[in-house]
Amino acid sequence: MTNGASSSTIGVGLLRPRRVCVIPQERPIIVTVDGPAGTGKSSVSRELARRLGLDFLDTGAMYRAATAIMLDRGLTIGQAEQLVALVMTADLHFDWNEDPPMILAWDKPIDHRIRDADVTEHVSPVSAIRELREHMVIKQRIIGHQHPRLVTEGRDQGSVVFPNAEVKFFLWATPEVRAVRRAEQLRAAGVAEVDVARLREEIEARDRSDSTRAVGPLVCPEDATRVDTTGLGFEEVVLRLEQEVRSRVLGT
Ligand code: DC
Repeated sequence: MTNGASSSTIGVGLLRPRRVCVIPQERPIIVTVDGPAGTGKSSVSRELARRLGLDFLDTGAMYRAATAIMLDRGLTIGQAEQLVALVMTADLHFDWNEDPPMILAWDKPIDHRIRDADVTEHVSPVSAIRELREHMVIKQRIIGHQHPRLVTEGRDQGSVVFPNAEVKFFLWATPEVRAVRRAEQLRAAGVAEVDVARLREEIEARDRSDSTRAVGPLVCPEDATRVDTTGLGFEEVVLRLEQEVRSRVLGT
């Protein structure tokens, strides 16, 4: 295991600052990282972006922000039309001066709210709303246009949003390992009582819902490199992705 991280701590691995820019400054490149929750996608993608000198987009934050808006404005999942209209007026966007970029709604930060338990509980059905996804896809493509050197992570980045992305990854891990990683994240965040079996059930339920929805389901794009992170530490996963991008782009 590298970096002193156990295989289950992929999401919370700490690294010393290092910035090795292997992609020439003027070269546009979109790298997509898709996969289910608990594969370490966010932390891995963020570190990959940092090492390659690219911007980082967390598209889950956008669906989470929409869910927070729904809950905080007293709407329910049955009021999809009103929700989509409201999310459009919120003009979700990121402050790219922050690291990671901070999400705003109505020009106000909403990042402090989007990881709350009630948001996590409701986000999967919200992210299945067709019109909401259509709106998010447009927004994400605009971001890709404005930030053409980008690592973007989510569920549909390589399959739907950026089908022509130069490099695509799909991260995977067993539900058991993902539940243990999530438990460690919660404990690190100060949550005293963590039920790993329950977390696993929630993860499996979310996988089912994300993979079987009609619009933008979680799928591994045919041209994606699939990486099973089950037995790997954070550093190993980042290195694998970094080497793949480097060899595809620079032939090294
Ligand atoms: O990666 P995450 O846990 O922050 O994602 C939150 C939810 O949003 C998750 O249920 C899947 C959904 N999502 C999605 O449907 N499409 C994306 N591109 C990103 C996230």
